[in-house]
Amino acid sequence: MFLLGKTGKAALSCLAGTLALAGAATTQAQEISRGEVIATTCYTCHGTYGVSPGAIPSINEISADRMAAILQAYRSGQRVATVMGRHASGYTDEEIREVAQYFGKLQKRGK
Ligand code: HEC
Repeated sequence: MFLLGKTGKAALSCLAGTLALAGAATTQAQEISRGEVIATTCYTCHGTYGVSPGAIPSINEISADRMAAILQAYRSGQRVATVMGRHASGYTDEEIREVAQYFGKLQKRGK
């Protein structure tokens, strides 16, 4: 009984370790996909991969740093906008960083 209890404990702590590892991996995967998910909301207006088919500007050739700076400026109202100020106000610093990085990678891929 004592032995069983001990084994049970070891198994539990092992499980906890595995869960912690899985948690770390999931967090990283979410970080990548969150930028991508946010980017798909931009495509509604800016076109797929930010290549605009219409009057709204294309955003596919903007570096990550510049994109983050532009979105921050829209959010703070420093950059005047009809739509983007409202849209950008919905994102946290972290989300802006993630979507900006995603667009930065698209830029490097030449999409
Ligand atoms: C509802 C439509 C809409 C959505 C959704 C949208 N935008 Fe915009 N975006 C605009 C419009 C319109 C402008 C022109 C500025 C203005 O009037 O707001 C613009 C301007 C921009 C600009 C400046 C481009 C330039 O050359 O000056 C950037 C960068 C940008 N948007 C990024 C994004 C990102 C990133 C997202 C997604 C997180 C996004 N936009 C989502 C409509 C949209």
